[in-house]
Amino acid sequence: MSETDSPAAAPTGEPKKSAAHHRRPTGEPSMAREPNYQTARPTKVAIVGVGLVGSTFAYTLLLSGIASEIVLIDVNHERAEGEAMDLNHAVPFAHPTKICAGDYSDCEGAAITVIAAGTGQKPGESRLDLVKRNAAIFGQIVPRVAKANPEGIIVVATNPVDVLTYVTIELAELPARRVFGSGTILDTARFRYMLSEHLGVDPRSVHAYIIGEHGDSEVPVWSLANVAGMRLPTFCAENGIPLEADTMERIFRQTRDAAQEIITRKGATYYAVAAGLMRIAEAILRDQNTVLSISSLITDYYGIDDVCLSLPTVVSRRGIERVLRLELSPHEARGVRKSADVLHQTIESLGKIGG
Ligand SMILES: NC(=O)c1ccc[n+]([C@@H]2O[C@H](COP(=O)([O-])OP(=O)(O)OC[C@H]3O[C@@H](n4cnc5c(N)ncnc54)[C@H](O)[C@@H]3O)[C@@H](O)[C@H]2O)c1
Repeated sequence: MSETDSPAAAPTGEPKKSAAHHRRPTGEPSMAREPNYQTARPTKVAIVGVGLVGSTFAYTLLLSGIASEIVLIDVNHERAEGEAMDLNHAVPFAHPTKICAGDYSDCEGAAITVIAAGTGQKPGESRLDLVKRNAAIFGQIVPRVAKANPEGIIVVATNPVDVLTYVTIELAELPARRVFGSGTILDTARFRYMLSEHLGVDPRSVHAYIIGEHGDSEVPVWSLANVAGMRLPTFCAENGIPLEADTMERIFRQTRDAAQEIITRKGATYYAVAAGLMRIAEAILRDQNTVLSISSLITDYYGIDDVCLSLPTVVSRRGIERVLRLELSPHEARGVRKSADVLHQTIESLGKIGG
């Protein structure tokens, strides 16, 4: 391997690190608090909005050990302080990680800023009212994040995530490859889980995607779903598993309506989305080129333009490497176009962003 191929190679123009630098014992606290010693890049993550989703993500990130520093930002600063204190007390059981409550200037140097700030739907409030309220909140947040950290990646988790990702791209004025939403990462996980229960295989061995809107118009890509490269009709026929239209309808309904079912029972969802955000953070910080169904700005796909929705996307340290333009069945293509229409309408009803 040439020196420049090595993971430890210093970026061009930077002084080369000594061999001793790379030989320091693992687990040494001072090392973990420095930028990632293998890549000499920062592993600081900022989280804006540390309610249920943001704080659960922070906890997941701490347990993973992949971040050297986590900054918590919330309009309710006391809440951020409380979360930081509680998380810091888990550090002795986890990994050396610097965790603090901060303000927007502390986004400086973060490889990723995850935004999970916002409010839920109030009784009697329309979905559009919620969109307007959360878009106004983003008007306060995004320009400050982008100003403090013009080099970082912004990941949006707040709902409606596709519309707010679009709003964030407009407000941040950063390259679109560095602004995206968690999209259908969670819906895809739910779909794979429901399928795995039916098919009797590990969900990690089920390759299937939910694309389009993270919401009611989302689309299951049945035509490409597979286990070990075997399309589902073949896999099921070979293994004596039924796959009739009503079974497929039930699996998709359970996927699409999962959030509502959970909210009815416990008021909110946060573990699975936090694990999904963690997977996105890992793909970025470890430069993994992982395929994830995240929401990004889509152009010229089955007639869809200028809207954020989810397609399988290769994610690396640079953000979006490329969006995978799946070849869909005519029914699925109609579904994703309908998703785009729904999202376009919502964006238009918001009026001029930032105005
Ligand atoms: N993308 C997904 O798959 C997914 C899944 C679950 C939840 N969510 C969404 O995540 C968001 C957060 O959910 P939650 O359960 O954590 O809500 P929450 O109410 O527990 O937390 C929201 C936090 O945002 C903070 N906040 C509000 N306005 C702010 C502002 N202007 N600046 C900074 N912080 C501000 C609040 O103080 C609060 O701490 C919601 O929009 C929810 O719908 C998304």
